[in-house]
Amino acid sequence: MVTVTFIESNGNAKTVESPEGSTLMEAAVKNGVGGILAECGGACTCATCHIYVDEAWTAKVGSASGDEAEMLTLAIDPAPNSRLSCQIALNAELDGLVVRVPVAQF
Ligand code: FES
Repeated sequence: MVTVTFIESNGNAKTVESPEGSTLMEAAVKNGVGGILAECGGACTCATCHIYVDEAWTAKVGSASGDEAEMLTLAIDPAPNSRLSCQIALNAELDGLVVRVPVAQF
């Protein structure tokens, strides 16, 4: 299992566990993290699963590219540490990951 902490837009920190191979979006949705809408179900076509990766984790998580980077241009307030959580597969390297949920997804 991989442990991830989501900091919701109200400052509430929610730490959850999710199996390796699941996506960060799935970890959020299955554990009721507020603010991750994931309207397209992980197909990288909605940008409503936008999160900000904590600065300490950006190198390990990596940056968006291709279709994901294109979709992020539709997100509200994208930043250099923005990612679509459905495009991040959880693995042991990401155990302890911290991400922030934006105030709004659209
Ligand atoms: Fe739609 Fe991630 S769930 S882009």
